[in-house]
Amino acid sequence: MTIAESYAEFGTREARGVSPTYERLSLAVSRDDELLALVETLPPAKRQPNLLFGVVRLLGGPVDDAAAFHDFTVANWPAIEAELRVRAVQTNEPGRCAVLLPVLAALPQPLALLEVGASAGLCLYPDRYAYRYGDHLLGTGEPVLDCALTGTAPPDQLPEVVWRAGLDLNPLRVTDPADVAWLDALIWPEHSHRRARLRAAAAVAATDPPLLARGDLVDDLPALAAQAPPGATLVVFHTSVLYQVPAPRRAAFTELVRGLPGHWIANETPGVLPHDALPEPPGEALHNVLSLDGVPLAWTRTHGQAMTWWG
Ligand SMILES: C[S@@+](CC[C@H](N)C(=O)[O-])C[C@H]1O[C@@H](n2cnc3c(N)ncnc32)[C@H](O)[C@@H]1O
Repeated sequence: MTIAESYAEFGTREARGVSPTYERLSLAVSRDDELLALVETLPPAKRQPNLLFGVVRLLGGPVDDAAAFHDFTVANWPAIEAELRVRAVQTNEPGRCAVLLPVLAALPQPLALLEVGASAGLCLYPDRYAYRYGDHLLGTGEPVLDCALTGTAPPDQLPEVVWRAGLDLNPLRVTDPADVAWLDALIWPEHSHRRARLRAAAAVAATDPPLLARGDLVDDLPALAAQAPPGATLVVFHTSVLYQVPAPRRAAFTELVRGLPGHWIANETPGVLPHDALPEPPGEALHNVLSLDGVPLAWTRTHGQAMTWWG
């Protein structure tokens, strides 16, 4: 896929119906030869629309007008390029807990949670958030995570979590204002509800910060998993991570995680794990596949806003 095609696809498949601003902007960039030439000077992993748009927002640039975005990006390219080279898309979306919850709640309790690709670890608190599945409410306090759930009943109780740990190449700290500013810049422009959710979830995490280890999901997983307490069900999970991991490393991770005790939950783009015979996704928008121990169970929207269960 060319860079122009990847920006056009981001607009039509990821942003359409979710962020009109990013849909317009990514389609405009896909036709902007000057910007595409700048993006092409970057290593492939640094060319993602989300990353460019997040860095421009972090630096105070405009994203709601394509011409103003073009002018700002061209004029400030050295500063933008420097940020792009050191940053990665590390969007930490606690809303994804709403699609993990039905699986977590059904496992033998209590749980020892180990998230690979945890970013700031906000998905490590599924027991501390509140949920609204249609008119079914679960939990109390903030944030309240809304999820349209079809094909299965919502869980009737929260999981019991006795240990939580995260592994990331570059762990972010919810107690560091600069890290929270980057997480905020990664949230799409119109999504004030997600911005509020980030603040509320960060406040929950800050009262009891998770163990977050810097490391790779293959090389460093066994040592962290070995720290999980006996007597709890170890659950290794990941959401929206494996698209950032090269295929041979994904295969090595899959083999490794299958050999660990406990369970493995994946919530990932179709195609990054070898599932055969998935049903048709419910609509054009990008969906993730939720699986337990390699068995696919449901389509999920990428920010946890909906889940269609078939498993
Ligand atoms: C898009 S973020 C998703 C964060 C979180 N799972 C969520 O859903 O909110 C992907 C995260 O995976 C991490 N990551 C990518 N490759 C990794 C690897 N090989 N080992 C550990 N973490 C990795 C990135 O640093 C980033 O924080």
